[in-house]
Amino acid sequence: MASNNKFFSHATIEKNISILIILSILVVSFAGLVQIVPLFFQHSTTTPAPGVKPLNALQLVGRDVFIKEGCFGCHSQQVRVLASDVQRYGPYSVAGESVYEYPFLWGSRRMGPDLARVGGRYSDDWHRIHLRDPRVFVKQSNMPAYPWLQHKDVSNENVQNRMRALNKVHSFHHGQGMYSEEEIAKAPELLKGKTEEDAVIAYLQNLGVGYVAELRKQEQGK
Ligand code: HEC
Repeated sequence: MASNNKFFSHATIEKNISILIILSILVVSFAGLVQIVPLFFQHSTTTPAPGVKPLNALQLVGRDVFIKEGCFGCHSQQVRVLASDVQRYGPYSVAGESVYEYPFLWGSRRMGPDLARVGGRYSDDWHRIHLRDPRVFVKQSNMPAYPWLQHKDVSNENVQNRMRALNKVHSFHHGQGMYSEEEIAKAPELLKGKTEEDAVIAYLQNLGVGYVAELRKQEQGK
C-alpha cells in the first residue's frame, strides 16, 4: 500500500485529473522552451538564405491573391528532406527562405503539387491558360478555374500601406524594415495596368528562384 500512496506514483497522477493537467502543462512547456526558443536565436533560421529577397510590390499583391483564393489549401510550399520530394521538386526548403514571410505559407496539404520550386518551370502564358482552365493541360485536374483574376485590376491596391506594415513587423524581429522608402515610393508604378492574374503569376514565377540560382552557383564554384 505504502508505495501506492506516494505523491509522484503513476497511480496518483493518473487518477487525479488536476495533477495530471498541471504536470502535462509543465512537461509540454519545458519541451517547448528547449525545442522552440533556441530557433529564435539560431543564425540559419533568422538570416535570409542566399538569393532570398523580399517580394516586390506586384509579387506581394500576388501573394495576397494566393492567400485570398485559398491556393494554400491544396498547395504546400515546402520541399521536404526526402529523396522523393527532392527528385520531384528540387532542392529541399530551408528556414532562411521564409525570413520575409508574414505569415509563411508552408501549408499542410498537397492536393496539387508543391509550389516552392515552381518559379520559372512554366511560361507566363502557360500559367494564364492553366489558371483560367486547368483542364486544358491536365484533363483530370481538380483544381478550380480562376477566370475572374484576369478582370480584376490591381492598379489601385494600396500596397504601400502593406509594405509599411511589413516593415514594422520585420523590424520588430530583425531591428530593421524590409523595404526602403524608395521601393515603397515606386510600388504603385509596378501595379499600373496589372490584374490579379498578372500579380499571382509574378508571385508564382518568383517562388524558389533566387535561392535555387544561388545553390547552382555554389555548386559550380566547387
Ligand atoms: C482543389 C485544390 C486546388 C486548389 C484550390 C488550387 N489548386 Fe493548383 N493544382 C491542383 C492540382 C490537383 C494540380 C495538378 C494538376 C494541374 O496541373 O492542374 C494543380 C496544379 C497547379 C500548378 C502547376 C504546378 C506544377 O508543378 O505543375 C500551379 C502553378 C497551381 N496549381 C497554382 C495554383 C494557384 C495559383 C491556385 C490559387 C489561385 C491554385 N493552384 C489552387 C489543385 C488545386
